[in-house]
Amino acid sequence: MNVLVTGGNAGIGYFTAEQLAEAGATVVLGCRSEAKAERAIAAIRSRVPGADVRHLPLDVSDPASVRTADLDPLDAVVFNAGIADAPNELMFATNHLGHFALTYWLAPLLTSARIITVGSFAARSERLDLDDLTSAGDVTTKRAYGRSKLAQMSFGFELDRRLRAAGSKAMSVVVHPGGALDSLTPSRPGVHTRPASTRVAGLLLHGKDSGARPAVHAVLGGDVEGGQLWGPRQFGLRGAPHLETPHEHMTDERTAKALWDRSCELTGLDLGEVLGL
Ligand SMILES: NC(=O)c1ccc[n+]([C@@H]2O[C@H](COP(=O)([O-])OP(=O)(O)OC[C@H]3O[C@@H](n4cnc5c(N)ncnc54)[C@H](OP(=O)(O)O)[C@@H]3O)[C@@H](O)[C@H]2O)c1
Repeated sequence: MNVLVTGGNAGIGYFTAEQLAEAGATVVLGCRSEAKAERAIAAIRSRVPGADVRHLPLDVSDPASVRTADLDPLDAVVFNAGIADAPNELMFATNHLGHFALTYWLAPLLTSARIITVGSFAARSERLDLDDLTSAGDVTTKRAYGRSKLAQMSFGFELDRRLRAAGSKAMSVVVHPGGALDSLTPSRPGVHTRPASTRVAGLLLHGKDSGARPAVHAVLGGDVEGGQLWGPRQFGLRGAPHLETPHEHMTDERTAKALWDRSCELTGLDLGEVLGL
């Protein structure tokens, strides 16, 4: 099994890669820093001797630069890389548009892949503004982040509807990690050092090792189907992977179609055509 994880050098992406390597997958870390990728690879190999893991240079905000010639066909790709505290338009460009465009560039490798989008509970309370998708207007950073994650999730569900309609063997699955804190995450030398504990948060939230489990389950699980949403079992915040019912606004087809069309315009890429949808 060959899996690409964007942002696989740190946080939830690192633990997704580590757990997939433990399961015997070949894992490609799509990350922008070679030094960070090398440290992540060393950390994985120290826990999984002989792990088949390597680095693909990838800046999600510039996905056209990805060298797809260096990749074999993918069984799964995990769209994990994300930023949460940046200018609004950069968050939309990285979190949503970057992965939308990456789907375009990877299309020849995704013909029977599971395409996993990492969303967020932050999307529950947000709505997309079709007149200001990038949150360029007067929108707080927190709301703009939530909207960018909602855009990703809406895209993930729409992608699966279109794949099903076209009879594709590929599927699109949406996951979210709940609330995953660095302070509850075990150390991995060279990658992450667990800071001083926040024991109270541990009752409600979990570490990024646990936050990675819905994505890992979406890649490997025999009970996973396209168009599903997987998140943590306990209040959607922590715990083992669990099938969720998406909120209605996440699967609204009119909004998703408008987002798809606008994403094609903003990136200049006809994703439907390249995927044969
Ligand atoms: N933690 C949570 O509680 C939580 C909750 C809901 C959703 N999420 C989502 O889960 C995902 C991972 O979150 P996290 O908490 O693990 O974040 P994190 O620890 O900050 O890690 C983010 C990862 O994304 C990478 N990244 C950022 N911008 C990139 C770019 N332009 N190109 C390539 N890689 C890039 C980072 O690489 P660098 O090291 O190079 O910066 C890093 O590997 C995100 O999509 C986030 O929105 C997290």
